[in-house]
Amino acid sequence: MKVTVVGAGAVGATCADNIARKELAQELVLLDIKEGLAEGKAQDMMQTAALLGFDTRITGSTNDYSKTAGSDVVVITSGLPRKPGMTREELIGTNAGIVKGVCENILKYSPDAIIIVISNPMDTMTYLALQSTGLPKNRIIGMGGTLDSSRFKYQLSQHLGCSPADLNALVVGGHGDTTMIPLIRFATWNSIPVTDYLTEEQQKQIVADTMVGGATLTKLIGTSAWYAPGAAGAALVESIVRDEKKLFTCCVSLEGEYGQSDICLGVPVVIGKNGWEKIVDFKLNDEEKELFNKSADAVRSMNDVLKT
Ligand code: NAI
Repeated sequence: MKVTVVGAGAVGATCADNIARKELAQELVLLDIKEGLAEGKAQDMMQTAALLGFDTRITGSTNDYSKTAGSDVVVITSGLPRKPGMTREELIGTNAGIVKGVCENILKYSPDAIIIVISNPMDTMTYLALQSTGLPKNRIIGMGGTLDSSRFKYQLSQHLGCSPADLNALVVGGHGDTTMIPLIRFATWNSIPVTDYLTEEQQKQIVADTMVGGATLTKLIGTSAWYAPGAAGAALVESIVRDEKKLFTCCVSLEGEYGQSDICLGVPVVIGKNGWEKIVDFKLNDEEKELFNKSADAVRSMNDVLKT
């Protein structure tokens, strides 16, 4: 297996580090436009191989896409991150140009690659990647809900006093502070609904804290987070390269599923060797459906900015 990560910044490097430690690829290429950055970080990571005991071969490249040739999976993290007080939406103009250009270059050398889009605003960047490449829809996966669901599990674990890894919980909809929908009604701990353990007040607090999870970290750190975003990207790579067929919320092209079309939005999907392989229909109630439709409206108006 060969995997490329475009963007050797905070998220890209963390994602690559996770991929290497888990030996998800024999060959891993880190590419960045900034002279020397990807080469330097690739060497730094390779110098952990003797200590950590992995044998993935990591190389870096300053914008030379021929080095990425024959990649099975490509993760796109290139673009500006948020600063405190910024929304993900404010990144649209700059990041659209970057994501489009990266997709073109990648496909010249890896026409069969599955593409995972992380750059923000991720729902719109995923839609752009799908439209601009014309690839089969299953090969374009946006990573946002995977991270938000992991943050949701963290918030639940704080109230339940359990490990986040023992929880099943999904966040669907857009990857934005006001567009994501933590589905607390479906969340379980040891197969028991978490709502059995939590007061209404606690449930509201958990949902609210999940929705501002990214913004809270941006305020604390001064820029957007990278450990969980990088790990979430690597988790999707793992499910693809090992054909695990795990269930994750990912941003994918909807053609009538969940009542929406001509949009990429976060829904539960099975991730395997063909990319996203199946959309799973959680039966949303009327209230959840309304939130999902509102989320779609917000993402759609962001997508419209691309057309102006
Ligand atoms: P960063 O600034 O640390 O890294 C971005 C890297 O992209 C830089 O090294 C830059 O040189 C590189 N880059 C810019 N233009 C490029 C091009 N044309 N080709 C190749 N490389 C290029 O930013 P960070 O924190 O790694 O975030 C990356 C992106 O991921 C941001 O847009 C951020 O908002 C987004 N993000 C998305 C998340 C999600 O859940 N979808 C979570 C966290 C961040």
